[in-house]
Amino acid sequence: MSNQLLFQQFQNQLADSISSNVFLKVSLGNYQGNEKELKNIYVRKVKIKRADMLSFTYRYKTRDIFKNFPIAEGIALICHFVSNDFKICTLFTTEKETILEHGKKEQISLREKLVSTVVQPTLAHNKEKKRLIQPVGKSYLQELRITDQDGQVFKNAQDKYRQINQYVEILSSLIKELPEARIKSVVDMGSGKGYLTFALYDYLHNVLKLDTKVTGVEFREDLVKLCNGIASSSSFKKLDFVEGTIEAYTVDHIDLLIALHACDTATDDAIYKGIKANAGLIVVAPCCHKQIRREIEKSKVKNELTFLTKYGIFLERQAEMVTDGIRALILEYYGYKTKVFEFISDAHTPKNVLVVGIKTSTGGALTKAQELKRLEIKEKIAETKAYFGIGYHHLERLLDLDK
Ligand SMILES: C[S@@+](CC[C@H](N)C(=O)[O-])C[C@H]1O[C@@H](n2cnc3c(N)ncnc32)[C@H](O)[C@@H]1O
Repeated sequence: MSNQLLFQQFQNQLADSISSNVFLKVSLGNYQGNEKELKNIYVRKVKIKRADMLSFTYRYKTRDIFKNFPIAEGIALICHFVSNDFKICTLFTTEKETILEHGKKEQISLREKLVSTVVQPTLAHNKEKKRLIQPVGKSYLQELRITDQDGQVFKNAQDKYRQINQYVEILSSLIKELPEARIKSVVDMGSGKGYLTFALYDYLHNVLKLDTKVTGVEFREDLVKLCNGIASSSSFKKLDFVEGTIEAYTVDHIDLLIALHACDTATDDAIYKGIKANAGLIVVAPCCHKQIRREIEKSKVKNELTFLTKYGIFLERQAEMVTDGIRALILEYYGYKTKVFEFISDAHTPKNVLVVGIKTSTGGALTKAQELKRLEIKEKIAETKAYFGIGYHHLERLLDLDK
């Protein structure tokens, strides 16, 4: 049978299994594409707001990304993946497993295995999994209105609870890159109501058994008061919240600096503090990108992309990419290895990009290669600014890199 017919047969089986409700999951493996660190994709059927959807879990080396698609679109995507970069795909149903595999000389094989134990399909979106932050017996989760007294997560707090856990999971894998002696002090800039600050403290102290000091910095007095009250009633002795701006916050020592959705240039202020304190790990989820957006808008520069930026949404996305791209370059300038990735599904929030810097240089005098790299980065930033007609980037200015 030709490859085309085999693909078609697989697609028909997939669609039939979904419509006849025997579908359990699809796993895509043996990835040969260009996306770094992508390992597998798993697909389940879920119900979201009463509609059936296919939920894709993109499993990377150190994180998972979730995306949901309408059924037809999801089927098309699976077929696209298995026709291209994933060389093996297994369809699990209640009756059998169907395996489509790329062999030597581009030949496709399709085989089936009957299953001996019957598994019933489930549509539970939030299938219980072992969470790093367990909900039971956590007074801070009760006081933050995430759980009731029995540790049951409130219906309207499910998203928040999931986000907290995803965020701690990501941080836990990043923290593993730091030596233990480098996790003594954590500062959360723009800590807000402290959901993530409390969860991180809980994880560091109660799961990793570290004695880390954690500080939230927040300019809203009511939130600082609320959070300090909860820290005290939870007996979190090494957690405190400081009232004031990120700009004005002074500290000598920071091992891990985080800033999640600190508005606009507050993210730059936070990165600046992290760089100046020589933090081992800097993790920011930028929020709005108004400063660079305004610069691009007022610029009279025309380039090949001008036709795009007449649309507000593209201008916004471009401002986001340029702002965060330059932030990543600046982190590299100061000896950080950088990563930029989505950390929660864009179904929850479009502000879902994390910019991560992991300090790799050990300090001391710069080598010739490091000096050269710094020069190249400065040039790249200058070129980017000129191309988009940007007068200044807030973080660059804070660090005097534009001089
Ligand atoms: C969108 S909230 C995010 C809160 C928290 N990080 C989270 O992710 O749940 C941003 C918070 O940062 C605070 N904030 C913004 N700019 C700040 C600044 N320059 N200094 C201190 N706090 C700031 C705001 O008051 C707000 O509480």
